Amino acid sequence: MNSQTVLVTGGAGYIGSHACVELLKAGYHVVVVDNLSNSKSESLLRVQHITGKSLTFYQVDIRDKQALTEIFDKESPTTVIHFAGLKAVGESCEQPQLYYHNNVFGTLVLTEVMSNANVKQLVFSSSATVYGESTFPQYTEDFPLGAINPYGRSKAMIEDILRDLYAADKISQTNSPWKIALLRYFNPIGAHESGMIGEDPNGIPNNLMPYVAQVAIGKLPQLSVFGDDYPTRDGTGIRDYIHVVDLVKGHLNAIQALNNHCFEAGGCKAYNLGAGKGYSVLEIIKTFEQVTGKLINYKISPRRTGDLAECFANPDLALKELNWKVEKDLHDMVTDTWNWQTKNPQGYI
Ligand code: NAD
Ligand code: WQD
Repeated sequence: MNSQTVLVTGGAGYIGSHACVELLKAGYHVVVVDNLSNSKSESLLRVQHITGKSLTFYQVDIRDKQALTEIFDKESPTTVIHFAGLKAVGESCEQPQLYYHNNVFGTLVLTEVMSNANVKQLVFSSSATVYGESTFPQYTEDFPLGAINPYGRSKAMIEDILRDLYAADKISQTNSPWKIALLRYFNPIGAHESGMIGEDPNGIPNNLMPYVAQVAIGKLPQLSVFGDDYPTRDGTGIRDYIHVVDLVKGHLNAIQALNNHCFEAGGCKAYNLGAGKGYSVLEIIKTFEQVTGKLINYKISPRRTGDLAECFANPDLALKELNWKVEKDLHDMVTDTWNWQTKNPQGYI
């Protein structure tokens, strides 16, 4: 059993709540800090119900330095998983200051509090959106960065800040160097197999999977397929979809790696978390129809600005250094999404 305390920022959200389940199951003490700006505390009640274990929750904004310092003093975490952030690409284009303030300044405050408390193990939620455009659709971690919207740039800036923090330790030859895993997620979908926790988007979803689920259940009339003239096998966009439970298991493996010889002298390293293969929009629709027995009403619409034709991970480094790879397939992802959607048609209420 594990007696380490992990502080989880954004732990009430979609990915964070699934991480809390796996952390509790693995025996960690879990402390969640979330301002509930995009989540409900109900998710945490359900996490505790699923696991039969309790966690500690603080409804606090990570930009509140004093409150965060008090939490670190009281809870003495050894590691932080940092999920807290705003994530809507369109909103980030309309309100860039909000995104930079929340995501970048929030991380500055968090890392300052961590430094002061000498807590220097961090797993950060980065994103495949940090990569620049490529003619080759499979990304390795050394591919040049070049995010194309404020959300993506906020993630890229945070990665830079974290790399600089680690580099500063090397200069001052501190004996407790930063140990940081930057996890670049591809397209997380799905839900916990219990159907008790899942993705609960505000308003009309931006992302494909929750949109399809809401069409299937009759909440939305029709899906627009953004473009069928891409140079892909069926003309629609291809993405690397990853089950959220596989994704969060990658975080537990990352914590183990930070604790072992790989990071003995400190480090700040990026890892792709993806399956390493992609599915098209039409393949997602077809699988959804097979799993649910429902026809998905869709129409072909113009391409969405900023979308790539195809994008998927090369996850070899995560396998090699984190001993992690996906275990679930598209059928599992769709089945679990549908289970969550049908059990919670209005999301968390
Ligand atoms: P989410 O919105 O469900 O969860 C984020 C949580 O952070 C929410 O509970 C929100 O209330 C909280 N939060 C936001 N700002 C905060 C602040 N200043 N102080 C305290 N809490 C705050 O999103 P998610 O899908 O679970 O994503 C988690 C992380 O993973 C985010 O950083 C996101 O950018 C990143 N990510 C998500 C995806 C995806 O497709 N879902 C892909 C790549 C990266
Ligand atoms: C997937 C495919 C669309 C909706 C976004 C963010 C990214 C990341 C994850 C955080 C594409 C098509 C979609 C619809 C469609 N988040 N589509 N109709 O664009 O890969 O990534 O979410 O870091 O930052 O940009 O995911 O789910 O929006 O789209 O046809 O109504 O589905 O064109 O090919 P995307 P997505």
